[in-house]
Amino acid sequence: MGMPAKGETRENVIATLREMQQSDLPIGDGHAFGFIYAAGEAVDEIKKAAVTMALGANGLDPTMFPSLRQLENEVLDIARDHLHGDEKVVGSFTSGGTESLLLAVKTARDHARATRPELTRPTMLLPETAHSSFHKAAAYFDVEAIEVAVDPKSFAADLDDMRAKIDERTILLVGSAPGYAHGVIDPIEAIGQLAIEHDLLFHVDGCIGAFLLPYLERLGDEIPPFDFRVPGVSSISMDLHKFAYAPKGASVVLYRDAELRRHQYFACAAWSGYSVVNSTIQSTKSAAPLAGAWAVMRFLGDEGYLKIASELREGTTALVDGLRKIEGLKVLGEPQMGLVAATAADGVQLPIFRLADRMQERGWYVQPQLGYRNSPHNLHFQIEPSNAGKVGEMLAVLAEEVANMTGESDLAPAPLLQMAASLKPEDIRMRFNELMAMAGSPGPGELPKERALVNEVMNALPAETRQELLKAFLGQIYTP
Ligand SMILES: Cc1ncc(COP(=O)(O)O)c(C=O)c1O
Repeated sequence: MGMPAKGETRENVIATLREMQQSDLPIGDGHAFGFIYAAGEAVDEIKKAAVTMALGANGLDPTMFPSLRQLENEVLDIARDHLHGDEKVVGSFTSGGTESLLLAVKTARDHARATRPELTRPTMLLPETAHSSFHKAAAYFDVEAIEVAVDPKSFAADLDDMRAKIDERTILLVGSAPGYAHGVIDPIEAIGQLAIEHDLLFHVDGCIGAFLLPYLERLGDEIPPFDFRVPGVSSISMDLHKFAYAPKGASVVLYRDAELRRHQYFACAAWSGYSVVNSTIQSTKSAAPLAGAWAVMRFLGDEGYLKIASELREGTTALVDGLRKIEGLKVLGEPQMGLVAATAADGVQLPIFRLADRMQERGWYVQPQLGYRNSPHNLHFQIEPSNAGKVGEMLAVLAEEVANMTGESDLAPAPLLQMAASLKPEDIRMRFNELMAMAGSPGPGELPKERALVNEVMNALPAETRQELLKAFLGQIYTP
């Protein structure tokens, strides 16, 4: 098709866009228990207004756009205060959790390069539940990720295993507050002590939780300290595009002091163009998410967030209690906020991935998670403002479907599993279409109607093969 020869009318363009969006996950109607963070129309309105006002500005150079410098400093000041940082704590506004984590790892690597120049192959210690973005950082920045076990019941990082794996190559310890998969907070204070004993950096991944947890604590939940109050914590990431309801593309990464943050920055004067100094990965960057984040925080204020947090807390209690009451299901660990994983109860046969498909057919989106190490494959439910009041409705459907499906096999048909098991990671590119056709894919780049089959196959494969499959699939869907 290429570029349209002539421009279309505004009405046409918008109508086409709207039509395309028809098959997207619905936003804000409370039927999605993942992906969405919708805090209502008034919040959307202020976001839209601020985003629109900031569209033309360029974050490449805050001296040309002083409003951006002010917006970022004000956002960082709120963030630092929220996480009990003193006046030495500094940071950066980033495009999301992944960028915050990438930067935290790059900072640790460059800090190590400066302070331990003899170290050529640095490592970081990652609990099995740590977000995949740390693995991305490992790949991008050549810091080897060493996995730390998590307790098979609580899903919190195993401190003894972490201690045992610290060696002369370690530069960074990692803990989550909480981890996405089970909503469980790692033993942050104890990891902080380890970091102090061994003179290591320690990043707390608060991408999903750090904004909400202080509110839950104020509402009476027992939240173990995870922020700058904890000695040994050297950096924290906190997303604003999740439970602060900012537009997508909004997170912060904070450091104990400016000396550490220095290692995050990049400057280049060794070319013939303008002098470059970047705080984050992008150079030219949109100011829209920053303005949107700032505006939503001004609009809701502490009081507004506390009120929403109280609704989320009720929704979470209803969800966890309700899931525990469904015969045939069990909740994994003790979630400390509305991120809840549930799987088949011990001794029960339940096709978890088909259950996810069935829920979607009935209008409810819940996220399937593959099994990994000690964590069995499960369904993941995330509470956010628009679904918190719909938990009861969703659980009623879930209970019905669990009852209907109990006893059904949880495995893909044997020939498919055999074919998948015969694949080595390096075979995937050649045999991907064959595998997908066997799983019922109608054509290249299209998922089979029964998505469960794909998950069942993936679940049976080692992580490296899963990864190759995912990349092959992405390559297909992004072929115009
Ligand atoms: C704990 C945690 N860390 C990092 C991320 C990555 O954030 P993003 O998707 O904004 O890049 C997530 C996303 O859910 C998360 O839950």
